[in-house]
Amino acid sequence: MKKLKVGVIGGTGMVGQRFVSLLAEHPWFDLTVIAASARSAGKTYEEAIGDRWNIDVPMPDMARSIIVKDATADKEAIAAEVDFVFSAVDMKKDEIQALEEAYAKLECPVVSNNSAHRWTPDVPMVVPEINPEHLAVIADQRKRLGTKRGFIAVKSNCSLQSYVPALHPLKDEFGLEKVLVCTYQAISGAGKTFESWPEMVDNVIPYIGGEEEKSEQEPLKLWGRVEDGVIKTAESPAITAQCLRVPCSNGHMAAVFCSFAKKPTQEEILARWADFKGRPQELELPSAPKQFLQYFEEDNRPQTRLDRMREGGMGVNIGRLRPDTQYDYKFVCLSHNTLRGAAGGAVLLAELLTAEGYFDR
Ligand SMILES: NC(=O)c1ccc[n+]([C@@H]2O[C@H](COP(=O)([O-])OP(=O)(O)OC[C@H]3O[C@@H](n4cnc5c(N)ncnc54)[C@H](OP(=O)(O)O)[C@@H]3O)[C@@H](O)[C@H]2O)c1
Repeated sequence: MKKLKVGVIGGTGMVGQRFVSLLAEHPWFDLTVIAASARSAGKTYEEAIGDRWNIDVPMPDMARSIIVKDATADKEAIAAEVDFVFSAVDMKKDEIQALEEAYAKLECPVVSNNSAHRWTPDVPMVVPEINPEHLAVIADQRKRLGTKRGFIAVKSNCSLQSYVPALHPLKDEFGLEKVLVCTYQAISGAGKTFESWPEMVDNVIPYIGGEEEKSEQEPLKLWGRVEDGVIKTAESPAITAQCLRVPCSNGHMAAVFCSFAKKPTQEEILARWADFKGRPQELELPSAPKQFLQYFEEDNRPQTRLDRMREGGMGVNIGRLRPDTQYDYKFVCLSHNTLRGAAGGAVLLAELLTAEGYFDR
């Protein structure tokens, strides 16, 4: 298979750096363009990054000398050069919406890490193991945009990447009715390190702007259905969330309580988790974890530092399943927020789009 040429817009940011490191040796994708703001444009990637390389793997050598382009001013040239772009820009919501739509209208598909288009009704928001069938709405989006090839597809917020996958294989069979979740979220989710956010050392901040609404509402779009050219959101389960920022570098933990119409046994839940496979596993996509949901028997697992990198940071880790006094069950889950929850999840989505023919010319 001929490799697809790929650009990363917002490639100098924290999520952009993850994209660059994941794409440097990707078997299907060739990273040929990195773009960011006018501040970085015209510099080599290494110069533009300066002392801002913030992730735990070295900058790939192939990226160092790439000349950074201006994501806005150079968009025509970028769209003409690549087969699709990943978007990880941090701008105002309406600016991101306009920029991503401009690329799509230039016939350059956009796989976005941003929240700007998550609620655009004909933009699929996809966790590849959960709702790959939502990609069908791209045909309707292309009609609206007047494009042959261009479209926008997005991934969901990082906070829900651990608990929605754990609930998914139980939801329909046992009638998931009610979920309460508390998330304990790493500082890289705010694009920060302990050096750039010293207030987070030895501290917990009980507020992450907008995160609780996303944690409660986005699962209902993931569990929705394509109808009349848009995604209709699911009406249940009822979800309530509290999201806390905790002093961890990477890895979002969630404590989950849930109730069902037909209460399963503990053994049934463990069996559904062990057996669960999604479309990425069937298609053997390059970034797909072999065992997506991993249950740990030990009472003190999963742990952020020990377990976030399982399956290259693409697995979801679960533990401490037990009955609850108010809900049917409670358990904890963990996923890597900048891998599975951000750049890695978007790369997996792009692999799915490739395998399903959405980038064909
Ligand atoms: N961090 C996470 O775990 C995470 C998870 C999910 C979603 N997100 C979302 O992903 C996006 C990026 O997050 P981040 O943490 O990587 O942010 P970041 O580190 O602040 O990086 C922002 C990127 O956007 C670029 N940018 C800013 N203004 C621009 C403009 N006017 N035109 C073009 N490019 C511009 C920056 O370029 P310069 O370097 O040239 O300024 C940089 O490449 C945000 O929308 C964030 O909400 C982040």
